[in-house]
Amino acid sequence: MCGIVGYVGEQHPKEILINGLKKLEYRGYDSSGIALVGDKDIQIIKALGRIVNLEEKLEKSKVVDSHLGIAHTRWATHGGVTEANAHPHRVGKVTLVHNGILENAASLKEDLIKEGVKFNSDTDTEVGAALINKYYDGNPLYAIKKATSKLKGSYAFGVIFDGDPKLYAIRKDSPLIIGYGKDGNYIASDIAAIINYTKEYSLLDEGEIAVLDDEKIEVFSDGKMVTKKKITATITAEDADKCGYDHFMMKEIMEEPKVLANLFERYSDFDKLPDLSKYKEIHIVACGSAMYAGIVGASLIEEKCNIKCYVECASEYRYKKVIYDRKTLVILISQSGETADTIAAMRKAKDEGIETLAVVNVETSTIARECDNALFIGAGVEVAVATTKAYILQVAMLSMLVIRTVNDKKALKEAKKIPGLLNNILEHKDIFEGVGREIYKVRDAFFIGRGIDYAMCMEGSLKLKEISYIHSDAFQAGELKHGTISLIEKGVPVFAIITDENIKDKTESNVVEVKSRDASIYTITNDDTVPNHGFRYVVPKVSPYFQALLLVPVLQLIGYYTARYKGLDIDKPRNLAKSVTVE
Ligand code: G6P
Repeated sequence: MCGIVGYVGEQHPKEILINGLKKLEYRGYDSSGIALVGDKDIQIIKALGRIVNLEEKLEKSKVVDSHLGIAHTRWATHGGVTEANAHPHRVGKVTLVHNGILENAASLKEDLIKEGVKFNSDTDTEVGAALINKYYDGNPLYAIKKATSKLKGSYAFGVIFDGDPKLYAIRKDSPLIIGYGKDGNYIASDIAAIINYTKEYSLLDEGEIAVLDDEKIEVFSDGKMVTKKKITATITAEDADKCGYDHFMMKEIMEEPKVLANLFERYSDFDKLPDLSKYKEIHIVACGSAMYAGIVGASLIEEKCNIKCYVECASEYRYKKVIYDRKTLVILISQSGETADTIAAMRKAKDEGIETLAVVNVETSTIARECDNALFIGAGVEVAVATTKAYILQVAMLSMLVIRTVNDKKALKEAKKIPGLLNNILEHKDIFEGVGREIYKVRDAFFIGRGIDYAMCMEGSLKLKEISYIHSDAFQAGELKHGTISLIEKGVPVFAIITDENIKDKTESNVVEVKSRDASIYTITNDDTVPNHGFRYVVPKVSPYFQALLLVPVLQLIGYYTARYKGLDIDKPRNLAKSVTVE
């Protein structure tokens, strides 16, 4: 989703802001823009598509002398992908960038039009700028406070006022940090954007207004100055670098053995983990791959701990009627900890007085801070839009919770071997390059499996479709006959995942059904007695706690190589955002 970076200080902001935008590319965007405050005027340059287009435009322009600027990557929500809709937006004396959605923008806009304001874009953001401008009478703090009190929805704003050398920031339900530099100060959607310049930052809390100049940052809450806790970033500049790999996605897949070993080590003293047996019911709520990780975990929780476990996508959960048993635990899974729907689901459970537990990567995120308890997976920075190492760690974290609950000390010994087995799979990644070469021209693909294998099918299918744009679906193998089998025709790739000993023969008989309709079968199994129908990859057999983990890189690599053969922008698939901070 949209990314924000701003700078005020001794340097010219251009390079700092462009570098920052590049580090925010992973969030997903379709246009970008920059505003540089000059001696006489504010220079605003916008471009559609990639940031290189903005850079080219900047190179061709006579850039003003400047010490203050804001920049933005836009992921279109209100209004199409046009330069007019790209940020920064300028109304009267106010120029701003915004991440979030102003839900009452339409009605506010009507009123502002009646008052004579002219709008140049279809965005909700321009309404925010117009409203701040309306209340601006030379007092920026008053204007921001008054305007935001009228806004519904979510926002992180970076704001500049004509003739004022300071940078202002405020947020609600969208992330924004303030960074303390040596020769200036920063605002950014996350620390990765400014990590090359500073590691010292603070989280801006809801409703606080930050005022930055080249020497200091002041933060006000309800008109009073507050002291912010400084955080030192643990990420390094390397985390936000491809380190020789062609894509972040491959770099991040290759990091899986290391981060998995770290997670097992971190939680080896498993008594410190929550014991799930004290709950009567568990709800796992998340979005996208995080939800699919939840489905794998739920299968283990029910199987091993005998606790009812429901998995829901957060966008449904937040609005549906949930009948809570008092002894329910709601587990929120999120890499970013900033997914708008997951945050709303967490707040719903908390409002009901239900205990919440986060399985989260970003330790400073909203979900990490607001949940009753948080388990950090320690994936480090994940840049590729399609999650890989964070997903495997989410699954592993849930496995550890199960192991702790059933108090299976033997499993901890086995855990130590898993990263090595994963490494062996990654060493033979060419095998999956071969699969990508074979299938990259197909229109449709299917994944079939039963039980926990079906949960893995969902993630495998999502990975393939989100980065290769091949239509792909996952089906419970036994359900094929009830409709989906009519889609099977000659050459359609069907990936069958067969690792559950108890139902392997059942799934295999479904494989035979699609094979007799001339589908191309790719079997991924842990059992070398399962027939090979053309392609078969056998992962090592391990206990059910860890079996899914060994399937993860296989499925991710199939998606990766297929997209690669298609020549697609693997790290930044079209229309997708890494961190979905709006509804
Ligand atoms: C987006 C990403 C997915 C991710 C999902 C949930 O759709 O592209 O990779 O699984 O959001 O994100 P979260 O940060 O909450 O795990």
